[in-house]
Amino acid sequence: MADGGKQQEPEQSGRVHQGRDAVFIGGEWRPAVGAERVDVLDPATEQVIGHVPAAGAQDVDAAVRAAREALPAWSATAPGRRAAVLAAARDLMAARRADIAATVAGELGAPLPFATAVHTDMPTAVMGTFADLAAEHPFEETVGTSRVFQEPVGVVGAITPWNYPLHQIVAKVAPALAAGCTVVLKPAEDTPLVAQLFAGILAEAGLPAGVFNLVTGFGPVAGQALVEHPGVDMVSFTGSTAVGRAIGAAAGGAVKRVALELGGKSANVILPGADLARAVNVGVANVFANSGQTCSAWTRMLVDAERYEEAVELAAAAAAKYRPGERLGPVVNAKQRERVRGYIRKGVEEGARIVAGGPEAPEALPTGYYVQGTVLADVAPESTVAQEEIFGPVLALIRYQDEEDALRIANGTVYGLAGAVWGPDDETAVAFARRMDTGQVDINGGRFNVRAPFGGYKQSGVGRELGAHGLAEYLQTKSLQF
Ligand code: NAI
Ligand code: MG
Repeated sequence: MADGGKQQEPEQSGRVHQGRDAVFIGGEWRPAVGAERVDVLDPATEQVIGHVPAAGAQDVDAAVRAAREALPAWSATAPGRRAAVLAAARDLMAARRADIAATVAGELGAPLPFATAVHTDMPTAVMGTFADLAAEHPFEETVGTSRVFQEPVGVVGAITPWNYPLHQIVAKVAPALAAGCTVVLKPAEDTPLVAQLFAGILAEAGLPAGVFNLVTGFGPVAGQALVEHPGVDMVSFTGSTAVGRAIGAAAGGAVKRVALELGGKSANVILPGADLARAVNVGVANVFANSGQTCSAWTRMLVDAERYEEAVELAAAAAAKYRPGERLGPVVNAKQRERVRGYIRKGVEEGARIVAGGPEAPEALPTGYYVQGTVLADVAPESTVAQEEIFGPVLALIRYQDEEDALRIANGTVYGLAGAVWGPDDETAVAFARRMDTGQVDINGGRFNVRAPFGGYKQSGVGRELGAHGLAEYLQTKSLQF
């Protein structure tokens, strides 16, 4: 029961990386200065599965120095050489697919099929796109009488969260390296094991010493030291809006470049004339994937009054198929579980109707940080559960009267990361999507594109990740006039 649905498929024989008691600085694994460690838990079993160092400011300082020392040579390498290293890293990620998937399944609690198809194959594909972009990108152009060069920003401090642990690392490190930057990574304390695997892969791919450095540890210690270090030219952060706001302020004070990928409360707008059953089923799957721990999840489903009750029934039926411990994995830790359950109770207090799931622990699952897949109906657009990021398998169904009402509700939060529009045809859906204050919208079930720019309007963030737009974040321009 407590295996979290992680039944081994025959072809999967991956081993969970148990962590090494070392940080990766200047091309070598070395002990951290202090003796403190981070215990890594499997959220499905609540058992400790590994340890990594809880690094401190001295370790961060050593890592930043190593990155600065490596910068002149790496930034001067030909883009084709950088492309070759990234391509080698992509191939090694593909070769280690089973180990990466097993490690993310262990430390995040993701069911193995999802850990393989999404947490492993997506970052491998993203690595491939930056290998291509490094080779293709025009790092030099002519503008009238000037030659304009795109040059690396410098030393990048990358701070990543636990929800898509390897994807979020690759979405920062790969473009930074493609641009010619050097990097110090501070991964999330809940999921540092796959970060260590990744450090080994980059070294094996032939990345020179000091170009990539890994410092594991806690946010307010190692993370903060990295943000504040004067040797860091740019901070790229993904995580909570609260921490992102503080990082943005610190970076602004030091006039460092900053990229922030923060929270979301994205709207899934189902217009009259859309295929309701498909829109609702895809919408529920979108929210429950990764146990609801997705910044771009469509956590608000907007349905017209006429078809609202039908949508509620469809959503409840779809949600019932997500059995905790099978298709629905646990959330990452006990704190997140309590937070998510608290939001469900808050929704009920505010007048929402539970039509699937609820705040109680799932039956017959005494172990593991599980939350029932929950659908809240009759959610008021201004209520807490319609405004705040819950980060668990909780869908809010909201009724709208007409298209203008739907647009007002869709745009009525502080966030603007993603969204979906379903219409009778693409043209109708596109016209609505163009009026949404958000960075990415899927039209009639359009699929995630690893080369499309990803990032937020409003308080969902600053800057873009992925593809050519993601690469541009790590470049600055120099003009020479003739
Ligand atoms: P968090 O924002 O505290 O953690 C993200 C990263 O920031 C981690 O690596 C952490 O160590 C680091 N960090 C924390 N405090 C820091 C500081 N003072 N200076 C520098 N780095 C620091 O997120 P947390 O507490 O794990 O999750 C809380 C909520 O945040 C979630 O419920 C969710 O709503 C949101 N979140 C959003 C994510 C997204 O993808 N946009 C990802 C993770 C969390
Ligand atoms: Mg936190």
